[in-house]
This record gives sequence, C-alpha cells and structure tokens, in this order.
Amino acid sequence: MKLLSCITPGTFEYQQAEKPVLQKDHTILKIRRIGICGTDLHAFEGTQPFFNYPRTLGHELAGEIVEMDNAPGFSVGEAVTFLPYFHCGECIACRNGKTNCCTSLKVSGVHIDGGMCEYYSVPSHTLVHGDGLSFDELALVEPLAIGAHGVRRAGVQPGEFVLVVGAGPIGLGTMEFARIAGGKVIALDINDSRLDFCRQKLGVEYTVNALSDDVPARLAEITGGDMPTVVIDATGSLRAINTAFAYLAHGARYVLVGLQKGEISFSHPDFHKREATLMSSRNATREDFTHVIACMKKGQVDPKTYITHRVTFGEVKEHFASWLDPANGVIKAMVSLGGA
Ligand SMILES: NC(=O)c1ccc[n+]([C@@H]2O[C@H](COP(=O)([O-])OP(=O)(O)OC[C@H]3O[C@@H](n4cnc5c(N)ncnc54)[C@H](O)[C@@H]3O)[C@@H](O)[C@H]2O)c1
Ligand SMILES: [Zn+2]
Ligand SMILES: [Zn+2]
Repeated sequence: MKLLSCITPGTFEYQQAEKPVLQKDHTILKIRRIGICGTDLHAFEGTQPFFNYPRTLGHELAGEIVEMDNAPGFSVGEAVTFLPYFHCGECIACRNGKTNCCTSLKVSGVHIDGGMCEYYSVPSHTLVHGDGLSFDELALVEPLAIGAHGVRRAGVQPGEFVLVVGAGPIGLGTMEFARIAGGKVIALDINDSRLDFCRQKLGVEYTVNALSDDVPARLAEITGGDMPTVVIDATGSLRAINTAFAYLAHGARYVLVGLQKGEISFSHPDFHKREATLMSSRNATREDFTHVIACMKKGQVDPKTYITHRVTFGEVKEHFASWLDPANGVIKAMVSLGGA
C-alpha cells in the first residue's frame, strides 16, 4: 500500500509499505477520508512539541472495515470512524471513564503512526458506527468532538452567554455545540475574516475583534452588564488565555480547549472574588462522538461549512505547505481516497 510519511519537518515522502496484518482485537480499515488538522500542520512545520520523526500523520479519519477481530456489532464493508486516542483501559482516568486523558494515551498520528495511508489498523474497541453518514461527515466527527467535549465540560445551559475565544476550526466547532446546547454564542478573534465566517456561515450573533474593539466594554454591553458565564479558549495563545480571565462573569466557568506551552498567570483575588472555575479539556470521549453524530444526523451541523479545500491522497504532498498560509483561508482540508 501507499503511505505518506513526514520524514522531517517540511518533508513528505510517499512510500510503499506492507498492508497491516490483522491482529487480535484489531480492525483493518480501508481509509477513505483524512481531515487535516492544526496538529498535522504544526508537525509538518516542526513546531509541534514532543514530536518524533519520521511520522505518518493523520487522525481525523473515515474508512471502511476490511477485516476485523472482536468487533461485535460491526460488519465488513461498514463505513466507520474511530476514536484516535488509544487508551490503556486500566489507569485511574480510564477506570473513571475519562479515556480521553488516559495516563499513557497514544494519539494516532501524534505519538504513533496515523492514517495517511491506504489501510490502517485500529483497536476494535475504538470503532464508531457510521450510522449512515458520509465519509466526509465521518472524518469531521473527531475535530467537532473536541469542541463538543469542551462545551460538555463547561456544562453550558440554555440561555447563557458563552464566549468562545478563537475562531479557528476548533473554536468554530465549539461555537456550534455551544449553540446546540442552547448557549448564546459570542465569538472573539483578532481576524475579521474569521469573525465574518462566524456570522455568515455559523449564524453567530455576536462577534468581537480583540484588536479593534474594547473587549470588556463590548462583552458587558452584549451581556447586559453580566459578562459571559462560560468562556472557552480555543486560541492556544498564552496572551489570549491570560487576558480572558477578566471576561468571566462572577460564578463563571473557564474551559481551556486551546493549548500552549507556557505558564498561565492570573490575579488570585480577581479569580477568588468571582468564585470562578477553571478547567482544561483534552480530546473527547465516545459520548462526545455519539453526540456529534446525532447532531449531524439531525442536520444541526453542516459538514460543508468546514471543508474549504479538497485533494486526492496523491496530491497531499504538493498542496500541504499551502494550507499553512493563512491567505489561503483553510478551515478544513479534506483528503479523499475514493468512496462516496
Ligand atoms: N483540547 C484538545 O484536545 C485539542 C485538540 C485539537 C486542538 N487543540 C488546540 O485548540 C487550539 C485551536 O486550534 P485551531 O486548529 O482552531 O487553531 P487556529 O490557529 O486555526 O485558530 C486559533 C484562532 O485563534 C485566534 N487568536 C489568536 N490569538 C488570539 C487572541 N489574542 N485573541 C483572540 N483570538 C486569537 C486566531 O486568529 C485563530 O483564528 C490550539 O491551541 C490547538 O492546539 C486542542
Ligand atoms: Zn485534529
Ligand atoms: Zn488509561
């Protein structure tokens, strides 16, 4: 089979490899779609921390079952996606159902080789039924589940104001699931074209530009003086994360979906007087995948909103670097390997 290996930062190479051999408790998928994520882009750029090369990237995957062992309820030929966070099942997090933050988590395409190849073997227990969704939709379930998980962590209640900071692919998904949970969404970014996208494609009512607006004043105005009771960071910018502590309503929850390398700092008295709650949000669980699929089936999320660029597997090497250029306006680049 053909696979695409990221040999070193900045270099991809198509290689011929043996098709995976069926192993106990595993399923072999014929890969049909590969969504390209910020993690893949950063790995290619060489800016993803703790990343080893060569690595086969790709964790936003949809495929067809070719062979399987111990996958009750699944059938050969079925369209599926899977949870690309391979967990141990035994650690404290796994025992508590928090498989998304397993102590020895191996994320496909990050810690182990991913799915930029024609056939890929996954643990059978990670499979998720396609439930009649298209391969495009199935490949979008994982990135959308990241936002859905953050929204679930926040416990968004109908009618409350949810400020989502960062309108990249992860933030956009977060806004959608905040809306689906009944939240009144406010999008904050520094990029006007991304804020336009929020208004036009996602129907977000309130958008604020952190560079040109007086953010606290705008937020106070939008929320009738209360400030948002949920703030979700999806920037991964240390500065944005530190600044947003000041946007929290008294009693608010602050969820960090975005991730950066530095140390967060904030005023303890200001945090204390708000009795605020700070949470991180890592990956997603099966519950989030199921929720995303159910919302797609109900038409509450339209995959066409996200897919801005399309290529075949053979064209990835040629196009990949261009997706790093903000001028090209990539939200989600989708790679096809046949199949409807
Ligand atoms: N929780 C998880 O498991 C998980 C999974 C995937 C990605 N992530 C993280 O989510 C974050 C977002 O990912 P993405 O792919 O959408 O990234 P992205 O870079 O495409 O989007 C980030 C957005 O934040 C905006 N931004 C930057 N600085 C800002 C500021 N000071 N104020 C307001 N907006 C600002 C940018 O303009 C951009 O639109 C990253 O940190 C990524 O590592 C987390
Ligand atoms: Zn991803
Ligand atoms: Zn574990």
